[in-house]
Amino acid sequence: MSLRLLIAFPALILAACEMRMWEQDRLDTWEAETAEHGRLPPDGAIARGDLVHLELLENRPPMSLALVERGRTVFERTCAPCHGGYGDRAGIIVERGFPAPPSLHEARLRDAGPSYFVEVITNGYGAMYPYANRVEPSDRWAVAAYIQALQRVGEAREAEGAPGEATP
Ligand code: HEC
Repeated sequence: MSLRLLIAFPALILAACEMRMWEQDRLDTWEAETAEHGRLPPDGAIARGDLVHLELLENRPPMSLALVERGRTVFERTCAPCHGGYGDRAGIIVERGFPAPPSLHEARLRDAGPSYFVEVITNGYGAMYPYANRVEPSDRWAVAAYIQALQRVGEAREAEGAPGEATP
């Protein structure tokens, strides 16, 4: 071994010591994540599960009695406490002080169409918070179909000269 290597070798070891491996850039507990830590997904990234989710949201199931019946179950459980069973009354939560929603029988909402209801369920609207984590995408379409069924009942009743409000 040459004299030069003999001198260089311990110098290399010392240089490695200078690197202080225990002082690496790392995340401490509760520290906010940043892009440099490589843990945030890049902008626009979609998780694999979310793709299925998005597809379900975009694919409106065909109208059927089963869809409307499923919608009724979810609507009565999730929406009626505020919107009322017929969609035009204050539900129990509103009686206890939550802001009153508009009637789902308003002309504007009769014209809105099912994808608008799916959007409101997904993203919320004003004082109403989103229900995306409580109502599955396919159930959102079911609820939208049920709201449309309620609206058709309302229209039919008004055409008969009956007051719009009724308990289905
Ligand atoms: C905790 C009470 C509450 C629940 C539960 C609730 N909503 Fe609402 N909803 C509201 C309120 C309040 C508004 C009016 C918000 C505003 O105008 O700021 C509203 C508004 C709406 C509107 C009208 C949006 C517009 O353009 O005016 C639709 C449609 C709607 N809700 C559908 C639903 C459906 C479907 C569900 C069930 C999945 C649901 N809501 C559950 C309180 C609720």
